[in-house]
Amino acid sequence: MTAPTAIDTIRVAFQADLGAVVTAQDLQSVRDRYLGRKQGAVAALMKSMAGAAPADRPALGKAANVLKREIDAALTQRGDTLDDTARPVGSVDVTLPGRALPFGRRHPLTLIREQVESIFETMGFEILQGPQVEDDYHNFEALNMPPDHPARDMQDTFYLEQPMPGGGEGATPPATLLRTHTSGMQIRYMESHEPPVRIISPGLVYRRDTPDLTHSPMFMQVEGLLVGEGITMADLKGTLVSFLQAFFDAGTRVMFRPSFFPYTEPSAEVFISCVFCEGTGCAVCKQTGWLEILGCGMVHPAVFEAVGYDPERYTGWAFGLGIDRVALLKYRVEDIRLFYDNDLRLLEQFPH
Ligand code: DAH
Repeated sequence: MTAPTAIDTIRVAFQADLGAVVTAQDLQSVRDRYLGRKQGAVAALMKSMAGAAPADRPALGKAANVLKREIDAALTQRGDTLDDTARPVGSVDVTLPGRALPFGRRHPLTLIREQVESIFETMGFEILQGPQVEDDYHNFEALNMPPDHPARDMQDTFYLEQPMPGGGEGATPPATLLRTHTSGMQIRYMESHEPPVRIISPGLVYRRDTPDLTHSPMFMQVEGLLVGEGITMADLKGTLVSFLQAFFDAGTRVMFRPSFFPYTEPSAEVFISCVFCEGTGCAVCKQTGWLEILGCGMVHPAVFEAVGYDPERYTGWAFGLGIDRVALLKYRVEDIRLFYDNDLRLLEQFPH
């Protein structure tokens, strides 16, 4: 009988080879040598059985299968006890603890946006978002800035599609652009709602500004709008002072200074006492003791006319606040560009 001898020979040779295994690679090559489907010793044994007497075959087959299981179990067991330090470079050591992945946090601009939203929510304002790709009508024209209005130069615009000069055949297609401010949401909301109106609308806006410490071509604003009967500038001042004192500090002083925006009349710029020096004068407030924080005013009658509100009956106020500016001040970050770099080292400094 040759086959039992062959089985024994394989078993003895396997034990010797297994004894010589040091690395995972060694182990794999022993596995290939004995259990490899095509070239393996056990496969060759099975094949050789075709030449055995038919009566012997079942017993031989059984013995070969036992050997196969034995070898497999011995290899697996040896694998479990392999010395990890002997693994060749590049092999995976499944016993090492996993590597911790860096983890994101909520962005400081998100944190500020949510604080602003929650203060206005308690005052009964509705929060809504608008499109960042806007048309010329909502971004400029309906806000009392017809084509060629010089106030358009205040905001350098990214155009996506320019109207054809002279119009060509048919109507001039409306220009589409990346909105330069969130003020277009005033128009969008009033077009589809009757007064009273009490909304804020946060979101990203875009301008062709060269990035520096205080400028980024993409930044975030919150627009506010309140319309009703008998609304006055006193309501505007009261609401904004309450908001700013809730947001910064109860002792924050607020100053209104006359300004100009085409969509409000009168218009004002709002300053708060410097959060760094508390008004005594420092480099951040350029020794003035004040920081400019937002623009606002009483909604211009032309804006009401554009949306079909009766300016004789309704009055209202609006404001626009730069979220980045407020975040820079509140978190004392020195460079606005950090907000857009997505560097986890910045984010890790903020709460979850
Ligand atoms: N849209 C202005 C800007 O981007 C901010 C602003 C000023 C918004 C006055 C208003 C407003 O609603 O009344 O600088």
